[in-house]
Amino acid sequence: MPRVYARIAGTGSYLPANAVSNDELAKRVDTSDEWIASRTGIRNRHVAAEGETTCDLAYHASVRALEAAGVDASELDLIVLGTTTPDIIFPSTACLLQHRLGVAGCGAFDVNAACSGFIYALSIAEKFIRAGSARTVLVVGAETLTRMIDWNDRATCVLFGDGAGAVVLKADTETGILSTHLHADGGKKELLWNPVGVSVGFDENAPNAGVRINMTGNEVFKHAVRALDSVVEETLAANGLDRHDIDWLIPHQANLRIIEATAKRLDMPMERVVVTVDQHGNTSSGSVPLALDVAVRSGRVQRGQLLLLEAFGGGFTWGSALLRY
Ligand code: COA
Repeated sequence: MPRVYARIAGTGSYLPANAVSNDELAKRVDTSDEWIASRTGIRNRHVAAEGETTCDLAYHASVRALEAAGVDASELDLIVLGTTTPDIIFPSTACLLQHRLGVAGCGAFDVNAACSGFIYALSIAEKFIRAGSARTVLVVGAETLTRMIDWNDRATCVLFGDGAGAVVLKADTETGILSTHLHADGGKKELLWNPVGVSVGFDENAPNAGVRINMTGNEVFKHAVRALDSVVEETLAANGLDRHDIDWLIPHQANLRIIEATAKRLDMPMERVVVTVDQHGNTSSGSVPLALDVAVRSGRVQRGQLLLLEAFGGGFTWGSALLRY
């Protein structure tokens, strides 16, 4: 049996209208454009309007991806959505999105792998297509992370933003996703987490109580660089490729310095690395498909090129996908 690949047929993305600059944040907390830009590369982030939800962002990104792919929502066999900020606990945001797209019947579920959510979702979707269980799949990464930011904590509030990206995968006999690699280490959970619970209950007197991201930034930084180095090596080795074979690195957009470290490891000039973090900060699951869509629509990423996607996030979770676009 010839191998069936999952090929990206179309991409889409969406950022909420409200952009907040570093200077605007500096009016709220003791920070500066210079500090934020030099440590993170971030200059802007987008904040969802009141009432605008993760599903809304996912919907706009998905409609654009479906249009780009020339696929009608009724043709979808499956929807997989990476998010750590679902609209509600259940039903899943994927189910809400399916209804919003005006279709019913196909499978739909969320994946929570924090900032690696899109890579995890993409990996799962690819397996469905490769196994012959689905032919057309919508994969989304969508977040409203600003809903769980402490706007008085300068160490975290400057980093995150809201946004969504989506791809439509189609079964293809020639090429597409070549391999995906997923990892996690639950032992480091307290370095980057939101400890608000359902099953563990909710202690209102706990430090940092409330729906808040807690992070030890410098530790996260070191772990991210190390994990991404290792998954990039693993991906190249699994495909018998040299680092110079990659046409584009499309990394998780958390921090420009982390991105530069991975590019250096790949001996890749920054001209071949897609960077959008300056425009929207860390949009968690949204970031990789957002960057991919920007690169595709600007004409930088061309059909036939080899793309390396990677991400790292709370959990810790990390992963990669190598694909022929
Ligand atoms: N503006 C000004 N100063 C700030 C600040 C801000 N927004 N945030 C923190 N600081 C201060 C700290 O209070 C500290 O001050 P002190 O020395 O007086 O105590 C100082 O800057 C250094 O803090 P530190 O946390 O060591 O800075 P850093 O160089 O590690 O940069 C991050 C902080 C968050 C930018 C960096 O650690 C980082 O990017 N980590 C990865 C985060 C990430 O990407 N997480 C998501 C992964 S998916």
